[in-house]
Amino acid sequence: MDTVRLDSTLTNPFVVTPALVLDFENIAHTYRRFENAFRSASARGVIYYAMKANANQDVIDLLAAQGSGFEIASSPELDKALAAGARGDQIICSNPVKTPSFLRRMQQVGVYGVVADSADEIEKIAHAAPGMNVYFRLAVDNTGSVLPLAGKFGVDAELALELFDLARARGLNPIGLSFHVGSQCLNAQNWVNAIRACGEVWYAAEARGHHLNFLDIGGGFPAGHYHTADIPTIEGIADAVMEALDAYIPVRSDLLFVLEPGRGMVGESGRLLATVEGKAIRRTAEGYQTWLYLDVGVFNGLMETFEGFPPVVQALDAEDRPLMTYTIAGPSCDSCDVVARGVQLPEVNIGDRLVFWDTGAYTNEYAAAFNGFPIPQVIVVGSEAVEVEPLEMLA
Ligand SMILES: Cc1ncc(COP(=O)(O)O)c(C=O)c1O
Repeated sequence: MDTVRLDSTLTNPFVVTPALVLDFENIAHTYRRFENAFRSASARGVIYYAMKANANQDVIDLLAAQGSGFEIASSPELDKALAAGARGDQIICSNPVKTPSFLRRMQQVGVYGVVADSADEIEKIAHAAPGMNVYFRLAVDNTGSVLPLAGKFGVDAELALELFDLARARGLNPIGLSFHVGSQCLNAQNWVNAIRACGEVWYAAEARGHHLNFLDIGGGFPAGHYHTADIPTIEGIADAVMEALDAYIPVRSDLLFVLEPGRGMVGESGRLLATVEGKAIRRTAEGYQTWLYLDVGVFNGLMETFEGFPPVVQALDAEDRPLMTYTIAGPSCDSCDVVARGVQLPEVNIGDRLVFWDTGAYTNEYAAAFNGFPIPQVIVVGSEAVEVEPLEMLA
């Protein structure tokens, strides 16, 4: 981390807030750490950055220049990967639900493979992108992840095997398996258990005549090492993962072993700089609470705090002041726009600045068209001027 330049940016009073300050040296360094850590005599991890974490084009360009591939979820994300110079085979799509037009485009540009986790999705892929490489997402244990992703996606072993057969019957090319242990996964054993589960399906699929050569261990790599020492490191997770690969996945010279880090790649590169715009003391049943109202909240950058992700926040230039307990809220008029409660900070006043750590991932993304999916168009009725944009789904 380039602390000198980072600190001088954060303390520069001319920087207009809210500002997301990204340290590109940190991202490049983290990319190299992933590359070096996930390497053994028998396998080498190939990185497909999950651009949903931070799809700023400069971030995409930087990672493309490092040699990264990209995991995408939508056509706008595909555009960004291509604009950065990624080849089709450096792109995969692990979003289990895709539109036909997106599938057609991915096939046209030679995207390496797409995920499926239902019979309906396989039928859709077979129709829109005949012969495409497909891999199947297994549902795995997300316990120990700060933001579990379980439930919405993934199949059990039995269904995965049925999907292999169905995909082959529909003329697709079933290549392997993927999973996601949940975001900010604090338990390296989850990857080990998930790889073991993949190994069981792998052998069973091969017994049914399939040839597998693709294993995608998803994202989930945690951020926060600058302030919390016991968070598993990239290297610690890699040791456990590489050992599990050797133990549970058949040795394969053509194995494509994929990582899809999002938060773990960019999270620690970011500091979100905010200004205290208001302050109030409120009387509650429990006593008095002091509220700070910032120029950033859950609707314009700190959505993850609303999902239960605890923010790490620091007051700038206030170390020598007495410690106080605050409720920190965003600027909107919505009462759910509360970022954190019971936070201890040195006393701060209107005009002071706060910094949120590890905000390189899922910050600006959540405030815009997340994953590249557009916000609803507005259709005005009851007026002469009704204009309807053609929908992508119907194209
Ligand atoms: C399919 C897929 N891959 C990768 C990621 C990135 O996960 P993380 O940011 O936890 O690394 C996500 C996040 O939701 C995802 O859905």
